[in-house]
Amino acid sequence: MTELKTYIEKNKKSYLNDLFDLLRIPSVSADPKYKADVIKTANVIKEKLSSIGLDNSKLIETNGFPVVYAEKIIDPSKPTVLVYGHYDVQPADPLDLWDTPPFEPTLKNGKIYARGACDDKGQMFMHVLAVQIMLEQNALPCNVKFLIEGEEEVGSDNLEDVVKANKNLLKADVILISDTSIIDNENPSITVGLRGLSYVEVEVTGPNKDLHSGVYGGAVANPINVLSKMIASLFDENNHITIPGFYDDVEEVSPEQRAALAEAPFNEDDYKKELNIEGVYGEKGYSTTERASIRPTLDVNGIWGGYIGEGAKTVLPSKAFAKISMRLVPNQGSDKITELFTKHFKSIAPEGVKVKVNPHHGGEPLVVPTDFAGYRAAEKAMEATFGKKPVPVRGGGSIPIVALFKKELGLNSILMGFGLDSDDIHSPNEHYGVFNFLKGIETIPHFYKYFSEQA
Ligand code: BES
Ligand code: MN
Ligand code: MN
Repeated sequence: MTELKTYIEKNKKSYLNDLFDLLRIPSVSADPKYKADVIKTANVIKEKLSSIGLDNSKLIETNGFPVVYAEKIIDPSKPTVLVYGHYDVQPADPLDLWDTPPFEPTLKNGKIYARGACDDKGQMFMHVLAVQIMLEQNALPCNVKFLIEGEEEVGSDNLEDVVKANKNLLKADVILISDTSIIDNENPSITVGLRGLSYVEVEVTGPNKDLHSGVYGGAVANPINVLSKMIASLFDENNHITIPGFYDDVEEVSPEQRAALAEAPFNEDDYKKELNIEGVYGEKGYSTTERASIRPTLDVNGIWGGYIGEGAKTVLPSKAFAKISMRLVPNQGSDKITELFTKHFKSIAPEGVKVKVNPHHGGEPLVVPTDFAGYRAAEKAMEATFGKKPVPVRGGGSIPIVALFKKELGLNSILMGFGLDSDDIHSPNEHYGVFNFLKGIETIPHFYKYFSEQA
């Protein structure tokens, strides 16, 4: 398939143009202001899928944003690959930190800058183009189905119903997803684990109104002081999380497995340099890679209350808030962890404040086996295009629907992503390397070929 590379190189301009058109539509699922744009994006993808020759291209309506479906069944006796991706993106804020406008895709230093360039429009679109190429060349070796959703960045709550109600439509042999990263462009990897998520918002209320911090300060509980203290108490001196029962179900990764994971190339000095930090920080007894993959975490994602305007205002606020995420590992369950958090957080509230805990979306952690046809096909495909065998790595992020695919459809997912951790997904100046985009388009047809031969 060396001609494949030449073919992609020759058509690169039009592939990039098509992607840029998609990136121009601000499909921010979290912000109601963009509702029409999110729906427009779904329609554009549906049209694109039917224009390249897929059948039954349609929108599956949900209580939220529609799911795009399309298929090409070349022969029911052949294996079927189900491609999953998401067309929604994170909000672009803070806007003033972007060097170029987030929804005006810009090519700079071999990278595509735009919100969604990597997560996940760029990566999802590689699959559309790869299938387009296989169809153009009459080289699609098996059946393919696409399932592209618009609510991944807000927890995929409605996709669950779609999956449960369309088990027959979604029948397949493997799920293929590009929504994760590789180690670097010389060291390919396949993600074999994702963390789960439990996300809560907490509200601490002190006095029934804001007070003068001189007149009342010292005598009445300040909710921001109290909230800070409560959060600080969630870690001990070894940075272990102190919520009773939090670690009860955590899978202990064996020394052999830890040694295998430590084989993946990682340079802590580069890591620190990239982030401009003097030192790393985390749970005692674990490496940086382990802390960000096989261990659970608790992080405050946002905290607010009181006066944050210009200058100084002396005020003892009535309320304080925080958004807290907990990343979970096998075999923790998100409902149980949310419950343990809630119970504990309320129990540590001092007299003089009231505490509310509101749960947000959750997701379950998972590991993907490496001893089946799908994994081996991905391994061979990446080896063919990178010239180096990919290593299995456990990812730190979450894609909640992947565990649900396993539960409801009984299918394993191959997390064959092509992004880099340094692509600034969810951040200002998100970007995706043109190298990675083209490498993905090139690798995917190899996967189809090897999977069809093995499955
Ligand atoms: N694509 C990411 C997840 C990801 C990124 C996994 C890099 C591994 C490596 C996905 O779009 C995402 O951001 N997921 C959210 C979960 C969600 C419920 C909002 C996350 O991990 O925060
Ligand atoms: Mn994503
Ligand atoms: Mn994301």
